[in-house]
Amino acid sequence: MAKIYTINNKKEEKFLRQKTPIFDFSKFNRKEINNLVKTMREMMKGADGIGLSANQLGLPFRFFVAQAPMMNTNKKSEFYAIFNPQITKFSEDILLMEEGCLSVPKIFGEVARPEKIVIEGFDKNGRIIKIKTRGILGRIFQHECDHLNGILFIDKAKKVYKINS
Ligand code: CO
Repeated sequence: MAKIYTINNKKEEKFLRQKTPIFDFSKFNRKEINNLVKTMREMMKGADGIGLSANQLGLPFRFFVAQAPMMNTNKKSEFYAIFNPQITKFSEDILLMEEGCLSVPKIFGEVARPEKIVIEGFDKNGRIIKIKTRGILGRIFQHECDHLNGILFIDKAKKVYKINS
């Protein structure tokens, strides 16, 4: 059973701090990739997350899933599974927003990031995708790409605070 790695465990933190290798499509069949996406989606949903990178489950794959929270009750936000993502454009305007992370329990912080980005990568069928986005989704994509490079939001946060519960 998969579990989400956290910084509370030294071994897991070490893994989370490593850059994740490229996902090699030639090493997996369609069923395996579908199962991988399904597991990631279920783990993200089960933890009430809005993004999850494969290395957060201890998987050495450059791959993440994301689904922005619903802003409008009658419009469901799109689910994304992006392999080998790369942010190819960043806007100059920077936005400060609060972030949290399933791998950094009970800690939140304000992180400054470009407001708009262009992300390029591959979908689960190995087809090229290119998405221009902003707002919460753009924020999630940047947070997840950082994960795949071994970077956690607390490394970038200006103010960090802990909640008790
Ligand atoms: Co995270």
